[in-house]
Amino acid sequence: MKTICFREPTNENIAAAAKIIRKGGLLGIPTETVYGLGANALNEQAVYNIFAAKGRPQDNPLIIHVPDASWLSRYCENVPGCAYQLAEEFWPGPLTIILPRKDIVPLRTTGGLPSVGVRCPDHPITLAIIREADVPIAAPSGNTSGRPSPTSAGDMLEDMDGKIDAIFDGGPCRVGVESSIIDLTCQPPRLLRAGGLPLEELTRVLGEVIVDKCITQQMSAAEKPKAPGMKYRHYAPKAPVTVVTGASEESARYIAAQAKPGMGVICFHEYTAQFPGCTVHDLGPQNDKAEQARRVFDAMREFDHESVTQIFAQCPDPEGLGLAIGNRLKKAAGFHVVEL
Ligand code: TXA
Ligand code: MG
Repeated sequence: MKTICFREPTNENIAAAAKIIRKGGLLGIPTETVYGLGANALNEQAVYNIFAAKGRPQDNPLIIHVPDASWLSRYCENVPGCAYQLAEEFWPGPLTIILPRKDIVPLRTTGGLPSVGVRCPDHPITLAIIREADVPIAAPSGNTSGRPSPTSAGDMLEDMDGKIDAIFDGGPCRVGVESSIIDLTCQPPRLLRAGGLPLEELTRVLGEVIVDKCITQQMSAAEKPKAPGMKYRHYAPKAPVTVVTGASEESARYIAAQAKPGMGVICFHEYTAQFPGCTVHDLGPQNDKAEQARRVFDAMREFDHESVTQIFAQCPDPEGLGLAIGNRLKKAAGFHVVEL
């Protein structure tokens, strides 16, 4: 099929995009985190087509996107007060809330689970499309399974051109890593994915939050992760990656001592000149985690076009967005981490 690209956020284009959703088509949607591969969450065939276009295993649930918290009770059972509190504080924004699902949400959408992940994305175009379509949009990240999440319409088209009806280009993603996922079906609430909303913000509202161990360590083959997506192969450059934690001067010195010409380095902006002969990608200034989050997927993705024998990466401390950035780097490294 030929993939249409909408660029201007005119009423006409919003209406055309919403019509694609209502008719059961596939639409690339911009969000503040990453681009999503969207379809009507209540239409089983449309949802099936998402899995097919991505090459995604059928038991890996999709999250559904809504325009505001009033839609929670349409699709979720027993919504606790703290869900509304979180929505009040952080929606629209990079937070997905897991709640018991109502039967109106097909099991196809939730990968067979009794729960459903709901998020209100912070992007005016996508919010307008959902309201116009008047159905929730199921959307995983818009990459082929196993590839990095797309942070621009161009990145998404690399994977999806010809496989989806249309994409709405809403510009580059402001956050750059996917949403944080909080499971409210258990007590205390559990963080299943570190993302664009820092853990510290969640604990401020919820009190105690358990950090699922899939965020900080490799899951063994026998373990069953709470977020099914965590068990699948995630994105990693072809060359082996080593993440080096610790103070940034020290990690830079360590990497400089190991790195040989022909290797790749992902480092903070301040250290880019310290690895002669290496292919160097700038993660952004060491004190600017927001910029590091925007760049982390691109820094890794670029190595797909370059041949390097091995990759070393500096890593921010785990405070704030550092938990999500470090997690994406460590996953790409298969949790091969040198702690200084
Ligand atoms: O920022 C985001 O969340 C982006 C944008 C497009 O909104 N979406 C996204 O979707 O990253 P996806 O499918 O790539 O990642 C969603 C993750 C998967 O690991 C999935 O297994 C988990 O959320 N998930 C979805 N529903 C769940 C549920 N009911 N219980 C546990 N985990 C769930
Ligand atoms: Mg994804």
